[in-house]
Amino acid sequence: MVKKTAFYALAYALLLGLFASASPSAKAATTNVKSIFLFKDVMQSNTNALKTSGFNTLLIFRIGVLANGNLVYYSTGSAGEAVDVPVVTNGSYVGGTALANKIKSFKTGTTSINRVEISLVSHDTTFQNIRTLINANGTGSGTALYKNFSALKTAWNLDALNNDDESVYDVSSTVGFAKMLGTIGYKYSIAPYTNSSFWANVKNQINTAVPGLLDRVYLQVYDGGASNNPGTWQTALGMKVIPIVWVTNDAKPSQGNTAAQAQTKFANWYSQYAVAGGGYWNDYDIEKMGSSYTSYGNALTAVFQ
Ligand SMILES: *[C@@H]1O[C@H](CO)[C@@H](O)[C@H](O)[C@H]1NC(C)=O
Ligand SMILES: *[C@@H]1O[C@H](CO)[C@@H](O)[C@H](O)[C@H]1NC(C)=O
Ligand SMILES: *[C@@H]1O[C@H](CO)[C@@H](O)[C@H](O)[C@H]1NC(C)=O
Ligand SMILES: *[C@@H]1O[C@H](CO)[C@@H](O)[C@H](O)[C@H]1NC(C)=O
Repeated sequence: MVKKTAFYALAYALLLGLFASASPSAKAATTNVKSIFLFKDVMQSNTNALKTSGFNTLLIFRIGVLANGNLVYYSTGSAGEAVDVPVVTNGSYVGGTALANKIKSFKTGTTSINRVEISLVSHDTTFQNIRTLINANGTGSGTALYKNFSALKTAWNLDALNNDDESVYDVSSTVGFAKMLGTIGYKYSIAPYTNSSFWANVKNQINTAVPGLLDRVYLQVYDGGASNNPGTWQTALGMKVIPIVWVTNDAKPSQGNTAAQAQTKFANWYSQYAVAGGGYWNDYDIEKMGSSYTSYGNALTAVFQ
């Protein structure tokens, strides 16, 4: 009896393994993502609240790539000041132990976080620099880009890189960069607000080359992307998306959502389109406006269990 059960368990496990390897993208499908973009300097934000309010994913906004391949962490302090910290120079981590320990602590101790991403955005020359570096030297393990992103992944124990390109849209270097990151061990995600044909093209090329590598889409449904429909994007991309809304803020108050308003939107999108989760732009505004992490976290956990 025991033996027979063990045999069936083994057969079942083998069968599961067979299906898993036959369809890696199905296995990689994610649901119930509860995310927030970290606009505020992580050394100044309430990271304890971020770890214990129901979120399971943090996206550190943002890492810049300089022309020489060095990496810089750009963020915003409590008083709205710019905080720029060089984190990788000449292939070595130089961001300091305190910063590394802070970021590694997101997934340790009392926490609901199981995934930490770094986000790259085109508010600077990051994507032009990536294009130039890849066109010149490719994506091999000896290149500056490879070594520097490898050093950062190790220093911060990162899970994924989030592409928030909003202007360069170069297909070839985007696909090459994603494949390079996959080799290093990152998962890859995107944060589109427009140009769905570009994103569908790169998603198809990336996941054809490495099934399941691009595993999450954080769709901006605010500001420039305010009119985005998650269902339309899911059809265009052929995968589930995670709609992101902007919390209550004083920069563009009309774009803000209270926790209750956010929950209503998430619930509607979940029932209409079975979206893969939800999330927020951003922690700085929650703290500046004196809003509640608990309320915003609850708005996600109430819908995405
Ligand atoms: C960069 O690293 C290499 C190899 O570790 C070293 O030889 C070189 O001197 C470094 N360059 C700078 C500018 O630090
Ligand atoms: C390409 O690699 C060579 C040799 O390491 C280096 O001298 C050159 O600066 C690199 N090109 C770019 C654009 O980084
Ligand atoms: C990381 O970027 C630095 C800047 O040179 C570049 O010199 C270096 O080649 C890259 N890292 C490494 C060691 O390749
Ligand atoms: C959309 O992406 C394509 C590349 O796929 C690019 O050529 C085009 O300029 C982009 N459109 C906009 C409006 O940025």
